[in-house]
Amino acid sequence: MAVTFDPNEHKEALSEFAATLDRLRGRRGVLMQALHEAQSRFGHIPPYVQELISDALDIPVSMIYGVITFYARFTLEPTGRCEIGVCLGTACYVKGSARLIEDIEKALGIKPGQTTEDGSFTLTATRCVGACGLAPVVTVNQDVHGRMKREEMKKLLAFLKKEYADMAAEVAQ
Ligand code: FES
Repeated sequence: MAVTFDPNEHKEALSEFAATLDRLRGRRGVLMQALHEAQSRFGHIPPYVQELISDALDIPVSMIYGVITFYARFTLEPTGRCEIGVCLGTACYVKGSARLIEDIEKALGIKPGQTTEDGSFTLTATRCVGACGLAPVVTVNQDVHGRMKREEMKKLLAFLKKEYADMAAEVAQ
């Protein structure tokens, strides 16, 4: 889902972020700090914000983009309310996590790194999350689900879909 970042909708956050960039300006090794701040303020780091960082810290946008796409904690698009991560580390992969991710892709109609149009779900292919003994591992926001089977994943997805549909309906009221 391509999401357009409208600066007019984020005026206050942008002016606070500009103040942070002013504080960081001229200092060395502050790119990660700026990116963390941007990610937590805007929920992602769109091109507009990358340009601001580039101008303030005098770092090429291509380098900023490279850092954002290298670290899983930074995203180019807003993440959904529910983030589903499937570990594709070696232990999980040999225990079938690739199948799980394919099933989720089909069920939600998105690929890893994408968010459903209603903003409910983001699918992420993660590296080892340090729970190899529980392979294959799926994370749902902060919760870790170990030894996940395809059938169980199907049930979990059905539950999450209902849960997040109810939540969206409540917000809309
Ligand atoms: S490889 Fe998946 S948790 Fe380590």
